[in-house]
Amino acid sequence: PIEKSLNNKKILITAGRTEEAVDPVRYLSNRSTGQMGYSLASAAAQLGAEVTLVSGPTNLSVPEGVKNFLQVRSAQEMFDTVMEYYDSQDAAIACAAVADYKVKEYSTHKIKKKDDDMVLVLDRNPDILYEMGQKKNKQFLIGFAAESENLIENATRKLQKKNLDLIVGNLVTYMQSSNNQVTLLKKDGSKIEIPEMKKQELAFNILKEIKF
Ligand code: C5P
Repeated sequence: PIEKSLNNKKILITAGRTEEAVDPVRYLSNRSTGQMGYSLASAAAQLGAEVTLVSGPTNLSVPEGVKNFLQVRSAQEMFDTVMEYYDSQDAAIACAAVADYKVKEYSTHKIKKKDDDMVLVLDRNPDILYEMGQKKNKQFLIGFAAESENLIENATRKLQKKNLDLIVGNLVTYMQSSNNQVTLLKKDGSKIEIPEMKKQELAFNILKEIKF
């Protein structure tokens, strides 16, 4: 039997990709499957937490025990939904692969092809995790950093800039895999190297680090 170390704690988790609509049939997105975030939600529920899962589009089913499942599509929708629930949480984990940009002008009609080049102007999306860091009251805040190079430097910079308690650094090569190999970096400067393992198992190793 699992020890219910997160009993009655409220945890909000963002998961999956976001989709930024270009026109009624097209969008900009990325290859995130949502596996890491859904594994965290499942593990947190097994540890007794009251889980709010804010999810972009995925092919996964809602993990057993998740109390509050909220589906969103765009980064702006994810931002609005997270902010609605954030204040009352004891911990939050931003695992979603949020699009950094949205299209500046959504076309209500399907865009026609032309002989010329096509230019799509993009605008910055809000950084959800950065805002969570700014609005932090009691929450233990965890972020992810998926990097293709300079993992430790980039993750350390994000930990500080976003006012996190812990950041999970991983290489982008694990994005569509059911395994992951990560380094945990804590606010106090300490570092934990975790060997490659299933995302379902890794989730418990990450949740173990939450301190209230
Ligand atoms: O700065 P970068 O996007 O690499 O930071 C990654 C972390 O920030 C992840 O935890 C991701 O979920 C979160 N993030 C977010 N909103 C964004 C961009 C990233 O919450 N718009």
